[in-house]
Amino acid sequence: MSTYRIAVNVEWTSKCNALCPMCPRDLIENPMLMKEQTWRQVLERLSPQDVFRAVIAGYGEPTTHTKFLEFVDDMRGHPLRFDMVSNGHQLDAERIRHLDGAIGLLIISFSSIDPGVYKRVHVNLDQARVMDNIRTAQKLFKHTQLAISLTPMPECLPSLPDTIAWLRAQGVEILTMSPTLYNRGGTLQAHELATGKLRQMIRQYRLHSQELDFIPSVRDVFQQWRSNRFKCVPRNVDVFISASGDYLYCYNDVSHKHPIGNVADLGIREVLAKREGMALIPELCNSCNMLNRYGAKELVKTGISYARTKLKGVSA
Ligand SMILES: C[S@@+](CC[C@H](N)C(=O)[O-])C[C@H]1O[C@@H](n2cnc3c(N)ncnc32)[C@H](O)[C@@H]1O
Ligand code: SF4
Repeated sequence: MSTYRIAVNVEWTSKCNALCPMCPRDLIENPMLMKEQTWRQVLERLSPQDVFRAVIAGYGEPTTHTKFLEFVDDMRGHPLRFDMVSNGHQLDAERIRHLDGAIGLLIISFSSIDPGVYKRVHVNLDQARVMDNIRTAQKLFKHTQLAISLTPMPECLPSLPDTIAWLRAQGVEILTMSPTLYNRGGTLQAHELATGKLRQMIRQYRLHSQELDFIPSVRDVFQQWRSNRFKCVPRNVDVFISASGDYLYCYNDVSHKHPIGNVADLGIREVLAKREGMALIPELCNSCNMLNRYGAKELVKTGISYARTKLKGVSA
């Protein structure tokens, strides 16, 4: 029986108000909204014994769900810590006030202070409106923390210092970036950026590395390493619940074609036990740039870096 805790990624919707070029969301054949009944079942399945953090994100934009306000209310009083990732476009003052205290951390994705770059990366979104919403969140939040996720696309990097300077001038302290431009569903080969270069930029600008966000403790990492037949850390430390309520084999199953159960039938432990015995899925894993990312050496490095970050008290 597995004893490690994992992070859960919950997709309220696989629909979105943007069309970002790095996002492989168009591989989802039937974008949909999560039904209220499914969301209730998700909440029942999430226990702090199995899960250390639930992130409302997935492959769509959670703020566009028609039941956004009601779903946010449902998280209040739940024993688990919830966070949310959003492109920030719909987060006006009313919604910011509504989110305050219901989630621990709001992470707004922001590509660049350069309007031209923003327009090309966050296609369909209004940069001035998102910047306004960032300022509003920074001003209004009393209980929820605000973080910004900087897009690791090559074209965002020249303006990165100015973007960071603007965000810090607004008082935003938690700036995060993924050291990986995910090759989700094999669609991003042309954009692949060396993780080494991104890690170096993360260090240079004192950003928080998103690779640590899914690691509850060093003990949990080693427990999952021992329990799983297939040694892939990104797969094993996270469970993705799609808008249909399906548990996906892996976060990188963008097209949602490899479910291993549904919240209506299985709990988190049962899903983990099922996945622990599963091998890689060639269709998914052969083109994944995360595969073999974390061998023993990387694992130790990430563990040490994680421990240092925890000591510094960063909780993003
Ligand atoms: C898929 S989005 C969903 C939540 C929301 N719509 C948003 O954009 O923040 C979650 C995060 O993944 C990031 N993202 C999208 N495609 C990516 C890629 N290929 N590599 C790395 N991060 C990516 C986005 O910038 C965002 O911060
Ligand atoms: S806003 Fe988020 S979900 Fe929508 S296209 Fe961009 S990265 Fe994908």
